[in-house]
Amino acid sequence: MSREVIASAPGKIILTGEHFVVHGAYSIAAAVNKRVRVSILEAPGDSYILAGDARSRVNNDDGRFVLVKTILRHVFEEEMKDQGVAISISSDIPAGSGLGSSAAVSVATAAAALKFAHLETSPRKIFEIALLGEKKVHGNPSGIDVETSLQGGMLLFSKNTESKPIPLNRVVHFLVVYSGKPRRTSTLIERVEIRKKQYPNFFDCLTRAASFLSLDVVDAIAAGDLPRLGALMNISQTALSWIGVSTSSIDRLIEDVAAQEVYGVKLTGAGGGGSIIALPKPDSVDALSKYMTRNYSYSFMTQIPQEGLRWEV
Ligand code: MEV
Repeated sequence: MSREVIASAPGKIILTGEHFVVHGAYSIAAAVNKRVRVSILEAPGDSYILAGDARSRVNNDDGRFVLVKTILRHVFEEEMKDQGVAISISSDIPAGSGLGSSAAVSVATAAAALKFAHLETSPRKIFEIALLGEKKVHGNPSGIDVETSLQGGMLLFSKNTESKPIPLNRVVHFLVVYSGKPRRTSTLIERVEIRKKQYPNFFDCLTRAASFLSLDVVDAIAAGDLPRLGALMNISQTALSWIGVSTSSIDRLIEDVAAQEVYGVKLTGAGGGGSIIALPKPDSVDALSKYMTRNYSYSFMTQIPQEGLRWEV
């Protein structure tokens, strides 16, 4: 029977500190209930990648599946020449939605490839290889998306220290709404770099403030204080607007959701389109879900915590 390895990894939301985390701030992220699944199956002939209707040979530089090819070529190196494999990718996460789809693809691909090649599959090794893929498409990522997809749960993350899991004493619901406007994280990271060069002192203050916001979120969660958590998310949104990553359509979406029974709402991830998240009041989870499904084409409620990397086979 042909050998097969299957790994899946979740998407993510960011509660505080996106963008500032690239410049050293603490940030808080959590895995969501949408996943990417990658299967690597022994197959005769050339190795190829399959996702929906799209198909491409691993050794073909046709500009498709760049991230996946970067990881596979790195892990398999020369061995790819003798060993044909079929890589199938299926995803619940829209690409470019700010929900960490490329990180989830990177983590599941890196994990499956390392295991298939009988190499080390420690979290550190998977992180290192997955980040190679992320760097190829995002330029200068902090690593928060990859770390969250790998570890799952909720994390306090900084580039300069080990990430810390944030214990949750109860399940928390977050509403996620995709604006339908995909965007490139690398473009947004570059836009923020320009802001930083224009206003270095102000940007430095905001970066430090983002760290304090994240630490305050840790305290709010430890105290089970959801109204405070929501207020901190609202402040985080203001800082993201100041650095120019919110858009008028995201602002309209936020205004609509803020008028519902929620404690806080903000964009999540790189912005410039993408998705927003909201923290519903506990009694309004079902009503809010129904309202969003009626009025928006892509929204879902996720419970936190969720599992990170999972071996499916
Ligand atoms: C993207 O999900 C989060 C950013 O902060 C980029 C990064 O940290 O790699 C915008």
